[in-house]
Amino acid sequence: LFFLLPLHSSASPAHRDQLGTTHSHSHTCVGCVLVVSVIDQLAQVHNSTVEAAMERLCNIFYLPSLFFLEKLFLKTTCYLVVYLFGPDIVKLLSADMNADVVCHALEFCKQATGQPLCHLYPLPKEAWKFTLEKARHIVKKSPTLKWLVHLCHSLLAKICQKIKRAFQNSVPFKDVDSDKYSVFPTLRGYHWRGRDCNDHNKSVYPGRRPDNWDAHQDSNCNGIWGVDPKDGIPYEKKFCEGSQPRGIILLGDSAGAHFRISPEWITASQMSLNSFSDLPTALSDELDWPQLSGVTGFLDSTSRIKEHSIYLRLRERNRCNHRDYQNIARNGASSQNLKQFIESLSRNQLLDHPAIVIYAMIGNDVCNGKADTVPAMTTPEKLYSNVMQTLKYLNTHLPNGSHVVFYGLPDGTFLWDNLHNRYHPLGQLNEDVTYAHMYSFLNCLQVSPCHGWMSSNKTLRTLTSKRAEQLSSTLKKIAASEKFTNFDLFYMDFTFQEIIQEWQKRGGQPWELIEPVDGFHPNEVTSRLLADRFWKKVQLQWPQVLGKENPFNPKIEQVFGDQGGH
Ligand SMILES: *[C@@H]1O[C@H](CO)[C@@H](O)[C@H](O)[C@H]1NC(C)=O
Ligand SMILES: *[C@@H]1O[C@H](CO)[C@@H](O)[C@H](O)[C@H]1NC(C)=O
Ligand SMILES: *[C@@H]1O[C@H](CO)[C@@H](O)[C@H](O)[C@H]1NC(C)=O
Ligand SMILES: *[C@@H]1O[C@H](CO)[C@@H](O)[C@H](O)[C@H]1NC(C)=O
Repeated sequence: LFFLLPLHSSASPAHRDQLGTTHSHSHTCVGCVLVVSVIDQLAQVHNSTVEAAMERLCNIFYLPSLFFLEKLFLKTTCYLVVYLFGPDIVKLLSADMNADVVCHALEFCKQATGQPLCHLYPLPKEAWKFTLEKARHIVKKSPTLKWLVHLCHSLLAKICQKIKRAFQNSVPFKDVDSDKYSVFPTLRGYHWRGRDCNDHNKSVYPGRRPDNWDAHQDSNCNGIWGVDPKDGIPYEKKFCEGSQPRGIILLGDSAGAHFRISPEWITASQMSLNSFSDLPTALSDELDWPQLSGVTGFLDSTSRIKEHSIYLRLRERNRCNHRDYQNIARNGASSQNLKQFIESLSRNQLLDHPAIVIYAMIGNDVCNGKADTVPAMTTPEKLYSNVMQTLKYLNTHLPNGSHVVFYGLPDGTFLWDNLHNRYHPLGQLNEDVTYAHMYSFLNCLQVSPCHGWMSSNKTLRTLTSKRAEQLSSTLKKIAASEKFTNFDLFYMDFTFQEIIQEWQKRGGQPWELIEPVDGFHPNEVTSRLLADRFWKKVQLQWPQVLGKENPFNPKIEQVFGDQGGH
């Protein structure tokens, strides 16, 4: 669980993150409060001792999906942490102290002089200082143990930093190398872009124009190849020629990659070994779920919603588009840092089909964790120059006849309006932690994914929305005035209000549209409803973007079935 935290906060813009010690300290503080809360609540839910609850938590590392050595390492670490901190945690929790007090007493959280006190739970009835004094008295340690604890602290902080660095740097560079398509699902594999159908030949990949009409091999991995024995005509020629195939590419942030921390991982009352079965996959996908996202998702929805992703609709429209999707989205991405990873986009101007590129940097240009958040936001002038740079890059990499669609920024005030007095998953058991508490805890530690909107300060929330609006109109202006040779350019508002209305029409509540753990990201339902709006609007206003319906779709299905799956 400690490992999750740097990832969560890497949803704040990478270029602004200072990887200083105060920062990693904030993460260990959030991590400690989270873990101690879960231990406390596990003991409550199962009416067990705190020791038994810790044992239970370490047991999640019996995950069947882990390798032997991983299991061994994780379990050893878990037991070491329990050995070092367990007795203290037991004593403190048994003395009715909450996770804030425990973590300050164990020095995972520190109140620097002149800084406010950061706490998740409402302050204890007795004065904070007195309680903390009492707690510190309880955890008095021998010098050796103190030294060990100190070592463990710095180790945990190091691990957090390492993981964060790894995710912010290596990932984009890793998939810049020549062969970007993969036969593995995770680590930027086919969860992110169409599965490779021949890992040994770099000229074979989804989205290319077929080589010799794919008479001998499926050079574009769309599952259509070979020659019709009846007339000797290649199937790809018969079914796809003139059908104007096209791919879908997302340039996006954590919302586009579908960032999600499952509430089952932190909710004591629902926790079982089963709740963690998807954790290893999630971690190797940077806690993102692109395979379920609204733009490039190819799996059926896990929620009640039946709407398909934009990719699946393009595929239903023309089955020759099979597997031609790329999710170039990263946690923390913004107009500013897109240049660090845009090269992972793969499109050959001469060899490949045109593409629809959706540019959806919907938050991080106004969202950051800084205490003084407004000066750290992107200005309209800066946005203009960032976006023009991106478009110039795209014009030299997209095949002629492509389309680029900008998404505007949403008005994030719905977060506070709909969530602030609701209980966070950590607060549901004892009805003590609301989203307002969680937001202010993260702001205090300066690790909030979006200080501007996740704040009790109405002036600040309004200011953030105003800036978002200015940035949206900058995008709109660019779309209306700039021309490029290889693609045309469109702008679409991010109308969250319409999604809320649609959801309410179906009997849902607005808060059900937000990821419960982070209280920030749009969830799967929102993502799919958004895809639905996108599709309907484009179909109405710019039908040329989507291309024609392929009359051979039933034939393709008849001959090639599921076309090799995804
Ligand atoms: C919890 O456990 C204690 C001692 O093991 C027992 O006395 C108590 O009745 C239990 N409470 C509930 C609600 O099961
Ligand atoms: C790789 O695929 C390309 C495109 O279909 C083809 O022209 C080439 O002969 C293949 N190379 C090998 C070594 O099979
Ligand atoms: C690009 O395609 C358009 C039509 O879609 C055509 O008019 C134009 O000449 C093409 N440009 C180049 C450089 O081939
Ligand atoms: C609310 O935010 C505004 C804008 O950042 C700031 O000027 C003001 O001091 C804040 N108010 C409080 C009570 O913090």
